[in-house]
Amino acid sequence: MEDLERILDNNRTFAREITKTDPGFFERNAGKQEPHFLFIGCADSRVPLEMLTGVLPGEMFVHRNIANQVIPADLNLLSVLQYAVEVLDVKHVIVCGHLQCGGVGAAMSDNSYGLVDHWLAGVRETRRRHHDELAAFQHNDERFERLVELNVLRQVHSLSRTPIVQEAWKRGARPLLHGMVYGLSDGLLKVLISGIDGQDAVRRAFETDRKRVGY
Ligand code: CO
Repeated sequence: MEDLERILDNNRTFAREITKTDPGFFERNAGKQEPHFLFIGCADSRVPLEMLTGVLPGEMFVHRNIANQVIPADLNLLSVLQYAVEVLDVKHVIVCGHLQCGGVGAAMSDNSYGLVDHWLAGVRETRRRHHDELAAFQHNDERFERLVELNVLRQVHSLSRTPIVQEAWKRGARPLLHGMVYGLSDGLLKVLISGIDGQDAVRRAFETDRKRVGY
């Protein structure tokens, strides 16, 4: 029970500290949310999206799953995306991967991990498509890092193909799509791709990949 007591104690401190600096904060927050960001991240415990970006409650809508996948048939993700884009009208949708991602690591190997293999099929597909680029690296950790990046880029591309984002772009130039990677060993976000605001930007960003690996 010590673990549980610790987090409940931390929670009381959290509520007290915010109330001290802004006494009406929680009441206002309970009324409505107007987040500017939808973050799609990995479920990994070392990637606490709100903590590492320093946002307050109400500023970030969040969806997390293993290896930050944007799978077009995933009703959970699509529901989050639709609500964020069509109701909350978020300005930014950010796919955030991270180095040393266990999900991407599993997709790097040819071992079988059970159910999660189905979930990670898309990452394995990315690995196959980029086989030549990945094989050119001398060290495995460089290959691993690049596959983490390619996986994020692939998910940004998948996002851009969803009818939800396509329809939103027809109405105006938002949301902006971005792809980032979080470094576990330095705590920093690296931006891979940013400001994708329509079909032309998608075409420009993925032109090389489309020619080379057929996206
Ligand atoms: Co991960």
